[in-house]
Amino acid sequence: MSLFQKCYRFTKAREVQAAGYYPYFVPIEASYDTEVVINGQRKVMVGSNNYLGLTHHPQVLEAAQTALRRYGSGCTGSRFLNGTIDLHERLEERLARFLNQEAALVFSTGFQANLGVLATLVGRDDHIFSDKLNHASIVDGARLAYGTVHRYPHGDLRTLERELARTPSEAGKLIVTDGIFSMEGTIVDLPGIMQLAEFYGAEVLVDDAHSFGVLGQAGGGTAQHFGMEDRISLIMATFSKSLASIGGVVAGPEDVIHYLKHHARSLIFSASSPPASIAAVLAALDVIEAEPERREQLWHNTRRMQEGLRALGYDIGSSETPIVPVQIGSLERMLEFWKVLFDAGVFTNPVTPPAVPENSCRLRISLMATHTDEHIDFVLDAFAAAGKRMAVI
Ligand SMILES: Cc1ncc(COP(=O)(O)O)c(C=O)c1O
Repeated sequence: MSLFQKCYRFTKAREVQAAGYYPYFVPIEASYDTEVVINGQRKVMVGSNNYLGLTHHPQVLEAAQTALRRYGSGCTGSRFLNGTIDLHERLEERLARFLNQEAALVFSTGFQANLGVLATLVGRDDHIFSDKLNHASIVDGARLAYGTVHRYPHGDLRTLERELARTPSEAGKLIVTDGIFSMEGTIVDLPGIMQLAEFYGAEVLVDDAHSFGVLGQAGGGTAQHFGMEDRISLIMATFSKSLASIGGVVAGPEDVIHYLKHHARSLIFSASSPPASIAAVLAALDVIEAEPERREQLWHNTRRMQEGLRALGYDIGSSETPIVPVQIGSLERMLEFWKVLFDAGVFTNPVTPPAVPENSCRLRISLMATHTDEHIDFVLDAFAAAGKRMAVI
């Protein structure tokens, strides 16, 4: 079979496009934080990871503009060579402090951070233990690593323990898990994992992509939420969600960060994140520290949306965070439902296999601190009307 045959045979997306239900790559013409303009029409955005609503904060915009003028539009090189500016180092010091870790290393994306950490630290005789619902960047990072990969069923600490017990005690071991699972909106049982890790001599890496700025009394993420910042081995986070920018970070012991700095290929052989993006993160951190009420508002909004959807009769699983997956069913039904909501002025995210099982397609809502009660009620009204029309509730 020729190399491109699979491309010619891939018709599914074109069929959905022709039917008018295609929910991907939808171009946004303008964004006003909680509202966006698409095809000249305003939609309430409940599909963004902008949890604290900082992408349009005046301080964040000002910092990005200032950096753009001072350093230019890009760094045109890797962190390793010409691509480190003082802002990268200032951000690393700041994030290490914020996460209560010795040191931190900034990558160009969170995806690259996970690839770099896993592929670099887990050598031939080492073992990775990874929850089956972990993010794709962890799955791919584990594929790149030379060590043995053990994937345990989601949240199944018995299986995790069995696998740990079977592994030679002298082998290097890393348990890696999402802090908040992005398809379920649930929080990992970190105390349970830490107990196993400490008993079996494993290190623990938590991916706080969705937890940074959201969990913990100061927004420090999953380890802070459980009071385990001094026991966790490594914290990874992204700048593409609460931090309103793009980039990634890993924080932990200084010697480990130093080693990653000199060995992680996704850091060394890729250009560094642009000055405006880094300045935006620094400003976002200022706002997170100065305005804790944003996090409180996010949780208020989360409760209002979850209670509203449950009262309407929707199944939102055991979501306990601003990520709220609404169960719809088959792919066809979910796509139709997405379009009905979209036409009613609500932008949600479709979740389809392989991220979830075949008949468990969902529409994912993500709350923001800047949503008003009116926004949430507007979305709930749209869900009520769509659910009745399509006999989902
Ligand atoms: C859990 C998790 N880890 C890692 C990433 C990758 O982060 P980034 O968007 O910075 O590449 C994401 C982003 O979708 C994520 O949800």
